[in-house]
Formats: sequence, structure tokens, C-alpha cells
Amino acid sequence: MTASEAKKKIQELTEKINFHNDLYYQKNQSELSDFEFDQLLEQLSGLEKEFPELKLPDSPTQRVGGAITKTFPSMVHQYPMLSLGNTYSQQELEDFDGRVAKGLDGDPYEYFCELKFDGVSISLIYENGLLVKGITRGDGVRGDDVIANVKTIRTLPLKIKGKNIPARFEVRGEVFLPKNVFKQLNKEREDIGEETYANARNTASGTLKMQDSAEVAKRKLDCYLYYLLGEDNNVHTHEDSIKKIEAWGFQVSPTYKKCKNISEVLTYIQGWEKKRTELPLETDGVVIKVNNLDQQDRLGFTAKSPRWAIAYKYKSESTSTRLNGITYQVGRTGAVTPVAELEPVLLAGTTVKRASLHNANEIARLDLRIGDFVFVEKGGEIIPKVTSVDLSKRKGNSKQVEYISECPQCGTKLIRHEGEANHYCPNESGCPPQIKGRIEHFIQRKAMDIDSLGEKTIEQLYDLGLVKTPADLYTLKKEAVLNLEGFKELSTKNLLAGIEASKSAPFESVLFAIGIRFVGKTVAEKLARHFKTIDQLSNATYEQLIEAPEVGEKIALSVFTFFRNSENQQEIAKLKKAGLKFESEFKEPEKISTALAGKSFVISGTFQNYERDHLKDIIVAHGGKVLSSVSAKLDFLLAGENMGPAKREKAEALGVKIISEEEFDEKLKEAGV
Ligand code: IVH
Repeated sequence: MTASEAKKKIQELTEKINFHNDLYYQKNQSELSDFEFDQLLEQLSGLEKEFPELKLPDSPTQRVGGAITKTFPSMVHQYPMLSLGNTYSQQELEDFDGRVAKGLDGDPYEYFCELKFDGVSISLIYENGLLVKGITRGDGVRGDDVIANVKTIRTLPLKIKGKNIPARFEVRGEVFLPKNVFKQLNKEREDIGEETYANARNTASGTLKMQDSAEVAKRKLDCYLYYLLGEDNNVHTHEDSIKKIEAWGFQVSPTYKKCKNISEVLTYIQGWEKKRTELPLETDGVVIKVNNLDQQDRLGFTAKSPRWAIAYKYKSESTSTRLNGITYQVGRTGAVTPVAELEPVLLAGTTVKRASLHNANEIARLDLRIGDFVFVEKGGEIIPKVTSVDLSKRKGNSKQVEYISECPQCGTKLIRHEGEANHYCPNESGCPPQIKGRIEHFIQRKAMDIDSLGEKTIEQLYDLGLVKTPADLYTLKKEAVLNLEGFKELSTKNLLAGIEASKSAPFESVLFAIGIRFVGKTVAEKLARHFKTIDQLSNATYEQLIEAPEVGEKIALSVFTFFRNSENQQEIAKLKKAGLKFESEFKEPEKISTALAGKSFVISGTFQNYERDHLKDIIVAHGGKVLSSVSAKLDFLLAGENMGPAKREKAEALGVKIISEEEFDEKLKEAGV
């Protein structure tokens, strides 16, 4: 394809994908299947890799990330990002209203109410319709430009279409992790033995600061906008701004309302007190703004916050109850979670009996004693938390809680790795909840997808000694299943058919299913593609593992150790015998040219314009070979940023040519690609 053909095609694809993206994320409609959409995106991504200089600033490929930012540039906010005064009572709100009335010399005014979203504030700068900067609040005067990460937020327009768009404007809002996304993220982390995140807000904040935007894209951040700034916006009220922001394609929470006076504001506040828990994100109050922008100017600012706005914070409902005891749950990975057993108490409409205490540090922080009266709170989240102890009610003879030292399920001595908050039961092969948990992990949708098997059935199969490891599922006899509680002819047939059908699950699903710690679905996909067969993965050295995409030291060590365990090897042998897939069906990309024929490359470090996988595809597509370790036979070491010094030294000692990303691009050009 010539450059001018590519330019046209890139433009066409960019427009088409952006159109369908907006249709999906802003109008909730879809005209393309996910597959068709991904195909277009892949086509565009391929062309952009070939012609990087033709990539458009609003390219939708930025949504999937890839750019690595080592340090985020610090920027001064054109308009400082102030905070809001907080109130907790009707009286304080009425006082605020009194100050507004006085400040406006008796002129009539209206309010505009919005919920207070519990996320991370962000300031977005658009120039000539294009999103150019995404700056965090920082200290209010200076923040960090995290634009590559911001661009992964699918509901944010990368380019504003329409007439009379100001040459420059700024729009502010709140970046958040929707509740369901946060829950799913934690489930996935629990699944691979990572510690779970404590709350959605801090996780959103941490995510915005991640260096690898591809990781950010996977987290599925979202954003509500609520503030328009700039000189030429041609708006007279806050309501105008919100309508304009909406018309430009930004996402605005539909919960706002214009209120004629403070009494309508109070009705709005009451109306959302309970209902807000049904919203897709956490909220912690209501923001009340004077609607007219001239009036906002007249009221002005104090040193810290505007006089024309205030935040009403909902009190999280809290009550006190007796801590009857602490029990300990053991998960699939052996992680132990302490749970507070409470004297049942009514809180925000439900009876609370238990609350998670997370880990030993949390128990120590709260300085809990059995018999204490503890304050239990239910904020925006559904799960109650223990926030503190009512010391006035503490009995003199109470003793500090001693954390268990043995597994409550199998009696094995617990261990705690340095730097980790959780205790673990190391008895992987003999601890019942770990075994059952592994089978549950194995059958889940993203793994072997055996939906005819549920938690209850697994429990029965395990308790009866019929299934001790996932491989036992494949030798289950019809008679044995028929004997299970609740099983008849048809349900037995379905269960066995589900198990049989799982044999066609692809290698990457099997690799995820066998439950190697820290190997989630994405890592399993990368490993399957990189090593192709279980035998090659199993025989890989630590050095070879660390060379694979997405694999860092923690994962490499975990995979290496997993395959050195004879029980794991036996299990794999049984699964192989049962007929599961242990070979990747991934097809190498089609050959485009022979420009790199006979040349071998090792790719190391991180790159500005490419993901490692893509570099590999390009090299292979042009006839080259990608190797994992440096040897005298190697032609090129393609060196990105942060490449390990050992690799460079070895290449230098062996006289292997080291080339940069730019030199690689040159090489392709020279070869006429
Ligand atoms: S307006 C001059 N509206 O609350 C400040 N802020 O305590 C104008 N926030 O930094 C802010 N929801 O991060 C506004 N609907 C909303 C909001 C909101 C959440 C956050 C925002 C701000 C903080 C102020």
C-alpha cells in the first residue's frame, strides 16, 4: 500500500470506528458486532504501525492504550482546581443560602444540584476540538498530565464535532471505577491470588497514575463531567454548560436538577439519600451550585473554595454492636480473611451480622477485643465495615485478639510472606476450601466453562471423595453422578455433557483454568501464544519466562515453581490423557514480505510506539524470526527503554548489533516496507 492510499484508509477507519464508538458509548446503540468492531480496530492498528506518521490525533487505537509514560509532566492549572466547603446539616445549608442571598443583594437566583461523585477529579483541555491534556488535581495549582491514560476512557470524546466549538476550552469532571467493574476487578484479583483493593476511589486514583496505558485500558475507567471553563463558551448559566457538555458528546450524570430555592434543594437531597446506592458509581453527597454564571462571578471565591457552591455530605449510616467473635475464611489460593461476627443489628434497612476485617493489620489497627462494642458503617458500598471501637464500653479485663497461627480448616501452620498483608495456608493439596476453590476456578466461564457444575455439586463431589482435583471430573461415572443429591437422568446427562464439551476449550483457557498463581486470563493468553505448548512452557527457564510479554519477576517465578512441582505435573498428565488442549491454535500473522528474511531479533524493554507483541508480529510478517535469548548467532537486539543491563552487556560481548526503535523503523523503510 502506498503512503497516500494508507492515509486515506487510516482516515476512513478512524472516522468509522469513532462513529461506532460514540454510537455505542453515548447512544447505547450498536450496528456492528464486537468481532466486526475489533477487526476494524485491528486493521487500523496494523496500518498505524506501518505508517506511524499518519496516525491521527483522535485515533481510536489510543483507547486500548500501549503508550508507556515513565514520568507524567507536571502542569500549572490555568484555573486553579479548588475544593468545596462541606456541610452535614440542614442548618449549615440554610446558612449557606443566607450568605448567597446577601452576596447577591436580594436579586433572585436559582440553584443547580448534582450528586457528589466519589472519584478522582480531572481537568481536560481541548484545543481545536481535540483532547490534548488530561491533568489531575494535584495540589490544586499544579497537577500531572496523564493524557495517555485518560484517552483510554471510552466515554470521553477524543474529538468534538459540531459547529462553533471554542478554539480552547477546559472541562472538569470525576474519573471513577463503576461499582460493577470494581467488583469484577477484585474478583479477578482474588482469583489469581492477588490481594484485593480496599475501595473503588483509591483504585481509580492509582489506575490513572499507572505507567502502562494498556493496563489502564483494561481497568475500564469511566468519567462524568460537571464543569465547563474557558473564555468563549457562550454560556450564561451552569445549566447551559451542562447542556452544552452533553451536546458535545461528554457523559453527564442524568441525576442533576435545577432548583428554585433551598427548600427544593433539601427535597433533592432527601430524594437521593437512599436512591443513590442504586447508581452505578459511589457518591458521597450533593453539590449545590448557584446556576447563573454572572452571579457566580459576583459571589467569587474564598482562598480555598467558591462562595457560589457547597457540598452537602451524606452521613454514612453507622451503629454500634457487640463483636461476638472473629472467624477466618480460607480462599482458593490459601489466603486467610478474618471476618467479624457481630451481634445482629439493623443498619440502613438490612440486618448486619458479619463484616470483613481484611487482614491481621486491620485487626491490629482497630485494636479489636472480643466483646468490644464496635461501630459499623455502611457507606455507599454494600458491604458493612467496622470503623472503630466504642472505648467507653470496653471491659477492663478484655484481651487483644491474637491472630490465628494455624489454618482453621486443616490445622496447617500459616505463613505470611514478607511485604504481604495476608496470611496463607500452605497446604495446597490437602486443605478442603483450597481444593474446592481450585475446582470452582477450573470450571468458571473464563476457564473450562462447565456451567452444568455448580458450587453445591462440587461440594458433594468433594465430600464423597469422587473429585479431589479437576482431572477427576473427566473420569466421573454416570452411576456416581446419579447418586448425588438432586440428580436425575437428565441432569446427570447434562453434567457429563458439559464436562465432555469442555475438552474443546482452547489452550489459553486450560492454562488459566489450572490456576497458576498470578496467571490471570490475559497472562494465560500471552503465555499460550508465546510458548505454544504446555511442554515448552513447562520446560522454560526463568530467563525465558521473563522474556515473554506481560511476564514480570513475580509471574515468572510463580510459573517456574508451578511446573517444578510433581503433583502439578501429575495433574497435567491426567488432563492431557483426558484430551484437553495443551497446544495453542494461534496462527502466526500472514507473511507480508520477505524484507527481514533470515534475520533474527531479540526484543527487550518497552517501546514508545509499539507493544512488544506487535513488534513480534511485524518482524514475523516480514519474514524475520524472534528469539528469546541473546546468543552469538543473533542478528539484532532491539532495545527499548529500561532494558536490563545484563542483556546489553552480553550482546556487546558477543558483538551482536543493538538497534533502537527508530533504527528498527529505518530498517523497515530501507527494506521498502
Ligand atoms: S464542582 C470549584 N461537582 O468534589 C469546585 N465537584 O470537594 C467545583 N466532585 O474537586 C467542583 N462531584 O473532585 C463538582 N458534581 C460535582 C462533583 C464534584 C464530585 C468533587 C470534585 C471536587 C471535589 C470538591
